[in-house]
Amino acid sequence: MAFIRFVQHNGVTQDVPLTEGSNLMELARASSVPGIDGDCGGSCACGTCHVVVDAAWATKLGPCNEDETRMLSMTPDCQPHSRLACQIVATAAMDGLSVQVPEHQF
Ligand code: FES
Repeated sequence: MAFIRFVQHNGVTQDVPLTEGSNLMELARASSVPGIDGDCGGSCACGTCHVVVDAAWATKLGPCNEDETRMLSMTPDCQPHSRLACQIVATAAMDGLSVQVPEHQF
């Protein structure tokens, strides 16, 4: 089964089923991944779906859009490979993608 891996700040991992066309925030919430709240429902307006993409995957996902970059600039602990999970739409090619959930989201 294709999956997306969410890694908590304490190292606990959770593999959630990958559904093409859903964004990573939706996938995380469907599997109750701690720390991914998605308060704005995916409209790129809250920053509560902040994840840090594994370096090996970062270039494969492409760059942030303008709204995402602006929201991330206001997000604590923003890092070079930070993304908003709601702005990453899952495709089959993302099978095994690993993202970290920052500690500040707990
Ligand atoms: S769910 Fe609000 S920015 Fe992603």
